[in-house]
Amino acid sequence: MVHTEEKIRLQKVIARAGISSRRKAEELIQSGQVTVNGEVITTLGTRVDPAHDHIKISGKHLPAPAPDMFLILNKPAGVVSTLQDPEGRPTIKHMLPKPSLRLFPVGRLDFDSEGLLLLTNNGEVAQACLHPSHHVLKTYLIKIKGVLEDTEILQLKKGLPLEDGQTAPAKVRKAGKAEANSWVEITIHEGRKHQVKRMLEYLGHPVIRLKRIQFGPLNLGNLPLGASRFLTDKEANALRQILVPAEKHPRSRGTRTTKPARWAESKRGSTTRRKPKT
Ligand code: URA
Repeated sequence: MVHTEEKIRLQKVIARAGISSRRKAEELIQSGQVTVNGEVITTLGTRVDPAHDHIKISGKHLPAPAPDMFLILNKPAGVVSTLQDPEGRPTIKHMLPKPSLRLFPVGRLDFDSEGLLLLTNNGEVAQACLHPSHHVLKTYLIKIKGVLEDTEILQLKKGLPLEDGQTAPAKVRKAGKAEANSWVEITIHEGRKHQVKRMLEYLGHPVIRLKRIQFGPLNLGNLPLGASRFLTDKEANALRQILVPAEKHPRSRGTRTTKPARWAESKRGSTTRRKPKT
């Protein structure tokens, strides 16, 4: 007899096997491709015991959980950040050490953006990194047309009214001037489509070049363009911290769902807000 506590959500078990992200696993379940002990399961909340239940996807046994792999790639511009592209553009697939590793990208970078792209076979960590509740910080080094005025920096720090809603406060740092253009460093925790470009476009400074230099606890460092490397154990462990269950934290007043880390902004706080009232 298996106790309920030992049972895990089916989509989580599939993601852990390195087959797909949790979201893709949910799609597999909903489309009727998953059986547990011979029975087709289409209900997402279904809990299973991976040690005893026979789980199959499209008739094939679920492989044993793959060991975690985490890789960062310095994506060049002119390459899509996915493994396949319906439009036939070059993808990151040929840049990976072994295409057979079954790693998938965590989020996206635009076709013309560069920089740090995390890839993993750990669907749980990937999903957590992308979930808005975790507030994972991402830093971009951006070349823009013109130079940001102090008032514009203030607007970025407060949040901008984009067409899909107000942006959360950003951290902003001027990073250099180059003739009619300039460099700026922006840190945000949101991940809306073309967000940084749209924020700067809104202020009248179109983006000329955009490079992600930090993703949560990970730094691009001096990884050459187009090169990739596996994370060190220290980096991988820092990333896994995102799965650490809720803990009361002085800053959180009990509302956080994850333990705050240096690289994940406090859910309640903002980059401009001071200490919460006690
Ligand atoms: N913001 C953008 O506008 N583009 C990216 O590729 C990443 C963040």
